[in-house]
This record gives sequence, C-alpha cells and structure tokens, in this order.
Amino acid sequence: MNNNTLKFDTHNDIEETARQQKFMEKAKAYVEELTCKLGRKPTYCVTTFGCQMNARDSEKLAGILNYIGYEKREEEQADFVIYNTCTVRDNANQRVYGRLGFLHSLKKKNPDMKIALCGCMMQEQSVIDKIRQSYRFVDLIFGTHNIYKFAELLCATFENQGMVIDIWEETTKIVETLPLDRKYPFKSGTNIMFGCNNFCSYCIVPYVRGRERSRAPEEILTEIEGLVADGVSEIMLLGQNVNSYGANLEEPISFAELLRKVEQIEGLHRIRFMTSHPKDLSDELIQVMKESKKVCRHLHLPVQSGSNKILEAMNRRYTKESYLALAEKIRREIPDMAITTDIIVGFPGETLEDVEDTIDVVRRVGYENAFTFIYSKRTGTPAAAMDNQVPEDLVSKHFDMVLSAVQETAKAQVKKMQGRIEEVLVEEMNEKDPSLVTGRMSNNTLVHFPGDAGMIGTYKMVSLDECHGFYYLGHEV
Ligand code: 5AD
Ligand code: SF4
Repeated sequence: MNNNTLKFDTHNDIEETARQQKFMEKAKAYVEELTCKLGRKPTYCVTTFGCQMNARDSEKLAGILNYIGYEKREEEQADFVIYNTCTVRDNANQRVYGRLGFLHSLKKKNPDMKIALCGCMMQEQSVIDKIRQSYRFVDLIFGTHNIYKFAELLCATFENQGMVIDIWEETTKIVETLPLDRKYPFKSGTNIMFGCNNFCSYCIVPYVRGRERSRAPEEILTEIEGLVADGVSEIMLLGQNVNSYGANLEEPISFAELLRKVEQIEGLHRIRFMTSHPKDLSDELIQVMKESKKVCRHLHLPVQSGSNKILEAMNRRYTKESYLALAEKIRREIPDMAITTDIIVGFPGETLEDVEDTIDVVRRVGYENAFTFIYSKRTGTPAAAMDNQVPEDLVSKHFDMVLSAVQETAKAQVKKMQGRIEEVLVEEMNEKDPSLVTGRMSNNTLVHFPGDAGMIGTYKMVSLDECHGFYYLGHEV
C-alpha cells in the first residue's frame, strides 16, 4: 500500500457505524442464546496493556460487550477475556505470552470461554505466526485499525470454529460513535488523531498505528460536549503527537486553535493532552496554555535523551540546546506548569558521556516526574539494525544513574508546592488506606487526603501538607 496516495477520512463514517450497529444486534442474539445455555449472563474481562490510547480502545470494546449483553468483571475468570496489547517494549509482549498460559488453563475448565487478542502487538506478523503455532486456543485476533469491527468479528467467532484473524495494514476510516464504557464517569479521553509520522528510529508505533490522521474539529467538539452532558468535567485529548494535529484536514487548524475551541465548552473544567513532541510545540500553544483557565498545568514533553549524538540517531529532530530553551521558555511563561518526560537509556551507541548529557537535562529542567525506560530493540525499526547495541550490564548501570537523578530532582521540584492550597479532582478511594481518597491536582501530582466515596468525581481544595517524593498527603480545607 502506498501511504502517500491514501486519502484519510476526517469525519465519522456513518455507513460503517450503521453496519456495525447491525452486527451488534446480531451479536446480541448470539449472547442471548449463550445466556440461555449458561443459565446466567456471560461475563467478560478486558485487560489493557500500554498507553492511554489503548485504555480508550478498551472502553470501546467494553461498550460493545455491555451493549450485547455481557457482564463486566475485573478478574480473568470470565467467559470472554480480551487482551488489548502493547508492543512498544519487548517486556509488554513477554507479559502477554506469559499470561496466555494462564488463560489456557482457565479455558480448559470453561469450554464456552472465548479469548481475544487485539492492539499494537497484533500488528506484527511474527506475533501472529507465533500465536497461530503455539497458542491455538485463542479465538479471535484483530489489530489497531479495525477495532470498530469488533461486533462483526465477534459474530464470526460464534459462526466459525477455530481462530478468526483480521489484521489490516492501515485504515482510512474513522468510526467513533459506537457505544463506550468509560472507566471514570467524571473524566474521559478522546481521540483527536491517530497514528504517527515521526519515525523515531527506536519506535514501533508508526508501524503498528499507521500514518497520522486527525479527526475533524467539529466532531471532537461534539463528542466532548456529549461527554460533558454525561458528567465529564476533565477531558484528555489523545494523540501520539498532538502538536501536529490538523495537518491532514481539508481546512487545516492548529492544535492551539483546537484547544481554544475546547476551552469554550461550558461545563468542562479541565483539559489535558498527551503527547507533545518537542519539535512541534509552538509559541502559539504556549500562549493558549498560558491564557487558559482550563488547560491543566501539566506538559508531558518526552526528551528521550540529552545527547545531541543520540538525539540525531533517534531521529528526534531537536537538539539538547533547543529542548532546554523550550523548557526554559515554558517555565518562564507559565511558572506553575509541571513538566514531565520520557527517557530512554541504552539506545545503540550510548556512552557514559551521553548519559551524563541526559542527566544534565534532567537537572536543568527539574522534571516533576519522568518515566525512564531501558531501550528495547524492536524488530523492523532502524535502531534494531544498528550494530552498536550497548551491553546489558552497562545499560543497567546507566539506568540507575538516570533514575536517581530523576528521583532527586523530582522530589525537590514537587516539594516546592508544600503548604499550598490546591484544587484536587478526587478520582478514587486510596488503594491502601480506606480512610483516604486519592485525587489529582491540575499539575498531575497525586494527593491523598481523608475523605469518603461520596467525594469521587468532585473538586476539593486541599492543603498540601507532606510531600512524599512524587505525591502529597494533605487535608481538605
Ligand atoms: N525502547 C524503550 N522505550 C521506548 N519507547 C518507545 N519505544 C521504545 C523502545 N524501543 C518509550 C519512549 C516513548 C514512550 C511512550 O515509550 O520513551 O516516549
Ligand atoms: Fe514513537 Fe516518536 Fe511517534 Fe512518539 S513521536 S509514537 S516516540 S515515533
């Protein structure tokens, strides 16, 4: 397929939506039959690996399953288990293979059980070959481009014996109006674009998520308005590189302009977005964030490395100096903006000197938080073919150095807010202490404070009493 000649839709495909709705009705009938056979509603469990995009996709799968009559479960002892997979790093793949063995043991006890695999990992031919050969008990495999066909594929599993496999290389369609089962009633993600055109040399995303394509702004706005009417007060605009939003639209619009429009939605309280590529972050965007009352004080700005040599080999298209200048500009213009990042340690050819450059950036920017990853070789990416891969023991030493720099600087940075009173959106009960609730400040820092389940989904003013590294303990004022 020649991607240069593909014409991407930017609007929701109404015909396809109607087609899938028919399959949902058909699937409903199959599930009714199953319900009679079992003498109870069949259950499902969707397990998500990876990023926010996958989390959103899982909500789409769950929405369809709820609609056709399955009942949701958190545990994998269910009649239908779906793994929505990630393949950004090899350990995510290994976790899926490891857990498939466990699912097999469950299926042996429950002959009506169905197992489906979808998501990024399934876009790789080597994975499909392996599952076909060694995991023959899997019922359904589909990829990232045809997730909206889930009801149709599900019908196929009721109609066929054996494995149903449907993987596409690319799609031009957008189907975004099927049912959803949102994890949180008060906050939601929304896809503003799909795919990525950046081809960072280590990254598999452009190969498994396809070319960059944006959704029409009016459809994004309508979706958010609907979500707000349904109780959502915090929205996360999702894309692999939101800063290049709008490029393929017939009437191009910048991400900053989109943000301005989202800001005007009445009843919406907070706007987040993920992820920004430093090379595309415009002054216009900084200005919009600065003036906004709703855009959260958090910018995730993946740096990946602080060494110009490595940045070039990574095809990141910025330098240590230009990144630092950008971070400085943001700190100057919007002083309460938290900056977080992603760092890769162990990229081919990385030396101690390069790692020291990364640590220098960590210290100079003073990230509020940083995700540090060990480089993972992804077959098919340019970096996988580089012959100067770094030995594991050296990578591990470098990783520890970066991690301790991150921890030290983040602690100092987060602590700067101690004693302040901040607005917190309460998200859930604290996992460890049932007398506490857990919420998030505008700048994405977590706060735990005494409260009860009735507070979930509400905004509270909280005094930040004790800084514990990346989070606070506080009390409502
Ligand atoms: N190895 C390690 N980390 C990776 N990431 C992407 N590809 C790889 C890889 N091959 C990290 C980047 C990116 C984050 C989502 O995952 O830091 O920002
Ligand atoms: Fe991967 Fe780079 Fe695209 Fe991010 S911008 S998804 S790291 S290729």
